[in-house]
Amino acid sequence: MNFQSNFQLKEYNTFGISAQAKEFIAVSNTTELASVLKTNQDIFVLGGGSNMLLTQNIEKLVVHVNLKGIEIVNEDENFAWIKAQAGENWHEFVLWCIEHNFGGIENLSLIPGNVGTTPIQNIGAYGVEIKDTFDSCTAMKIDNQSIKSFDKATCKFGYRESVFKNELKNQYIITDVTFKLTKTNHKINTSYGAIDTELEKNNITNPTLKEISNAVISIRQSKLPNPKELGNSGSFFKNPIILKADYDKAKQNHPEMPHYVVSETEVKVPAGWLIEQAGFKGKRFGDAGIHKNQALVLVNYGNATGQEILAVSRNIQDTIFKKFGIQIQAEVNVI
Ligand code: EPU
Repeated sequence: MNFQSNFQLKEYNTFGISAQAKEFIAVSNTTELASVLKTNQDIFVLGGGSNMLLTQNIEKLVVHVNLKGIEIVNEDENFAWIKAQAGENWHEFVLWCIEHNFGGIENLSLIPGNVGTTPIQNIGAYGVEIKDTFDSCTAMKIDNQSIKSFDKATCKFGYRESVFKNELKNQYIITDVTFKLTKTNHKINTSYGAIDTELEKNNITNPTLKEISNAVISIRQSKLPNPKELGNSGSFFKNPIILKADYDKAKQNHPEMPHYVVSETEVKVPAGWLIEQAGFKGKRFGDAGIHKNQALVLVNYGNATGQEILAVSRNIQDTIFKKFGIQIQAEVNVI
């Protein structure tokens, strides 16, 4: 293992922010991870770096979880249980599953990040969340290096939420995740309008897993910037869930405000719509900006600092609160 001091993290976060780690170590198996944790517990855990905004240097040991491997751990006639190590790239894992004809995560194609961080915020897109196929994950407790298996109920998944973001925050490092995927009778989910439209465009009526994945890739590429070309962290904000009574009030002044029903008393409002209506879509403040095709995504045109992007995000939050009376919250972790 190779500990490095004053390590540049620009290549390790999809926002492409320049910041240094006081010390950095990449671990490629659980033995190495346990040995690092035995002597270092005040650490910063880094996976794919796709859901964070670095606003300062990290004055700690950064532990980069780089465990690799994908295996079929069990199968029956209809299902396969696939275990992926935490450091596997999510999209490559999705493609591996599609190649092997394992269904259930094809709608989640092209989401940046690594497998190990997907349960933390229950990643989701196009009508599917990982909780739908999640079977279990293994995690190491930082303080005593014990290993624990978490089933779906224990993870307490919600919209971009889990126990790892709440009660157990900073206590565990996820080392592998197992998904229960279909081998036959795939539950094709094209309910999210844009997928159907994309398939129709290509005259596809009975889509394969690969065709759905390709449709999702094409939709994402048309709306979302590629972090390799333009630094970003996907949706910067969560779509706010508000009381229906508050929505009805806001709607009086903004009759065209879209919403999705969450429960009898709550609705979700697309933050992208609020941001666009507040006039921010496509705006640029120095090297920090709001993407031109999807207002929910903040971007780094090259040399923005985390502080500059944070300032833009606060400006957006304040403006939206003043205009709509709705508070929107960051989805990315601001460090
Ligand atoms: N909208 C606008 N202007 C915009 C963007 C969106 O008016 O600039 C409105 C439109 O009315 C649109 C609605 O917002 O119909 C919803 O937009 P979209 O379908 O693009 O989805 P989203 O709610 O903006 C969510 C996820 C995305 C995910 C898409 C597709 C969150 C925070 N974001 O975005 O996830 O890809 O749905 O399922 O829930 C991510 O988390 O990084 C991410 C990209």
